[in-house]
Amino acid sequence: MKLSRAMELKGEIKVPGDKSISHRSIMLGAIAEGDTVIRGFLKSADCNSTIKAFKAMGIEIEEEEDKIIVHGKGLHGLRAPASYLDCGNSGTTIRILSGLLSGQPFESVLTGDSSIQKRPMRRVIEPLQQMGAKIESMKGNGSAPLAVHPSSLKGMNLKTKVASAQVKSAILMAGLYADGPVSVREPILSRNHTEIMLKSFGAKISLGTVDDPTTVLEPGNALEAREINVPGDISSAAYFIAAGLITPDSEIMLRNVGINSTRDGILRVLKEMGADISLFDIKETAGEKCADLLIKTSHLKAANIGGEIIPSLIDELPLLAVIATQAEGTTVIKDAAELKVKESDRIALTVNGLKAMGADVTAADDGMIINGPTPLHHAKIATMKDHRIAMSFSIASLINQDVQSVEILDSGSVGISYPMFYRDLDSLK
Ligand code: S3P
Repeated sequence: MKLSRAMELKGEIKVPGDKSISHRSIMLGAIAEGDTVIRGFLKSADCNSTIKAFKAMGIEIEEEEDKIIVHGKGLHGLRAPASYLDCGNSGTTIRILSGLLSGQPFESVLTGDSSIQKRPMRRVIEPLQQMGAKIESMKGNGSAPLAVHPSSLKGMNLKTKVASAQVKSAILMAGLYADGPVSVREPILSRNHTEIMLKSFGAKISLGTVDDPTTVLEPGNALEAREINVPGDISSAAYFIAAGLITPDSEIMLRNVGINSTRDGILRVLKEMGADISLFDIKETAGEKCADLLIKTSHLKAANIGGEIIPSLIDELPLLAVIATQAEGTTVIKDAAELKVKESDRIALTVNGLKAMGADVTAADDGMIINGPTPLHHAKIATMKDHRIAMSFSIASLINQDVQSVEILDSGSVGISYPMFYRDLDSLK
């Protein structure tokens, strides 16, 4: 994709449904009793990997224009898949399914694309094994493919080493099949969509808090299907928030964006940087808050981004680095070593891409240091098929100082989380 400089961005966007919530709506819908109707579902490659996996386990899923209907078969209604389950590029699918499958009375194998096969899976394998699961990395390297054998799961108190919602959710899904209560204590509270949805489906669960990030699930009762309205994904909205802030004379309205407090770190940091972001029409459906966001071009100053806030903006850090190139002063991003084990090494790709565009940026072991403001220039950007890198640099290209355009390699990866990204971006020009 070749992108050139934009003069001003004006308009309104309804960002697509939240990816994390969309995955969970299929997963919990499949093991609930009755039909779960999902509106606002994110139709993207990652969520499709989850749909395909559940279809392969005998779940009927109707995909209509405006809604998805999952015909749930209850906690014990999944059947053995005929072949391995291909999770594609989706870390959420493979990690949460590893927990759910640990509780099933059949054999299964989980795998995915070349990026997934490099990602760390010991973080789910180890706690699940502690619960009694028979799960292993088939190549013995701590990554996929993963083989899951039938086992009996024990209730227990677990502590996770990383603040990861995928790990926490894998444990909770296994916990639904355990012989007693399961508690998960995280170092910092991570996104809590699984817990919120489990609660709304009738599970006995108490949610962790910022002060006490411990989630407790008592297994035993059936889940009941219910309607789900998926809010817009703040991680997708973030690209247009950034676009509106750094492109001169811009004003963008983003409708129905999820602002769950475990996900809104980007808003908190940007406000501290001086961003003009207003929230309207704040409402809540089934425990998930959302709002309309109005973004106006802003003069930004640098920020220190680290510690407790990191899990709530982890996917937005490459984009925050792009924004920081336009902010006055030195922005430090730290405590974010997790960026190295996402769909790509996001520290390396962000730093290399920004340097190629002329920014003053240095890589650190757990983050980046960015001195701004600096003009950005045209370049060819390697993305390693990472959707968030492709979208972050598409936003950087809006302020390219040159006549020549910025070339984003492998930009088709935006289909992982935001298939209509370039159409929506064009609609603002
Ligand atoms: C996700 C959790 C986060 C996030 C990912 C989606 C989820 O990953 O980066 O994009 O849906 O649970 P980790 O659990 O690895 O932090």
